[in-house]
Amino acid sequence: MLRAMRQADDDVWTGGLVDDLSQTLLSAAKIQARVVELGRQLQADYVEKDPLLVGILSGSFPFIADLVRAVNLPLEVDFMAVSSYGDRTSSSGVVRILKDLNSSIAGRHVILVEDIVDTGLTLDYLYKNLQTRHPASLKVCALLDKREARKREVEVDYIGFHCPNEFVVGYGLDYRGRYRNLPFIGVLRPEVYRKAE
Ligand code: IMP
Repeated sequence: MLRAMRQADDDVWTGGLVDDLSQTLLSAAKIQARVVELGRQLQADYVEKDPLLVGILSGSFPFIADLVRAVNLPLEVDFMAVSSYGDRTSSSGVVRILKDLNSSIAGRHVILVEDIVDTGLTLDYLYKNLQTRHPASLKVCALLDKREARKREVEVDYIGFHCPNEFVVGYGLDYRGRYRNLPFIGVLRPEVYRKAE
């Protein structure tokens, strides 16, 4: 698996979308290795807790897919979709729920799975919203933590990587709906979004 992903980095992903990136921040192999570590950590912390992992769409879809396959425990997965960015590269601060959970989380051990925590506005809103639904516990697992950009203090319990204060894409993260399919994470050239905004 790792070997295949490394090859995907080296051979397939040249030109095209990749030309819009100024640098690769995290290779596919590095992401995969860290996601497995996070999965093992969850596995140790949630024995006999039957956790419910809540993925925040759309950005978290590759992360949660890889993460749950690294946790050897009975668990369930649900999704919420929220919108705070629209087509821009900075948060509007107004969070809208576009799709809510399919079932109740009352009494459940919930892990909120995010692609990236940037200003913290989305997570702050979601955390408070889910707390009102009386879960037995509520923790947050984010692949990337862009700490320097924080506007709201939020607690992230499981962090994949710290992220510099730049706009990044790939492995679920998008700009105007694109780049989610890159198996690695890179920094988007500012020219790409400056000319559009
Ligand atoms: P926050 O509310 O500013 O913390 O932003 C949360 C959401 O904004 C994330 O779940 C992402 O979908 C999106 N986002 C924040 N930073 C980036 C980035 O660098 N690239 C792509 N999406 C981002």
